[in-house]
Amino acid sequence: MPDITFIEPDGSEHGLEAPAGVSLMQAATGAGIKGIVADCGGQARCATCHVYVDPAWAVRLPPPQPVELAMLECTAAERRPGSRLSCQITITDAMQDLRVQVPDTQW
Ligand code: FES
Repeated sequence: MPDITFIEPDGSEHGLEAPAGVSLMQAATGAGIKGIVADCGGQARCATCHVYVDPAWAVRLPPPQPVELAMLECTAAERRPGSRLSCQITITDAMQDLRVQVPDTQW
């Protein structure tokens, strides 16, 4: 189970052990990470699971598929190069020490 760190908008960090095979969104909501809303339950239809992946990690993750890219046009917070929908990232053991920042808003 890789250790993953979520960084809240106020800078506070929350580390968790996340099981491989679940989505980053599921790991976050299961751990009570504030700011990951996930209104659509992981169907890539709401963009309320938006996160900023650390630049050092962004290039190491599987690239977003067209449905994710389309929904990233609808994020409430500004879109950045590391923007991803956390529901579309499946955790693997290779994601040890992944760091993601939670935007200041999802609506
Ligand atoms: Fe809705 Fe990710 S949970 S797009």
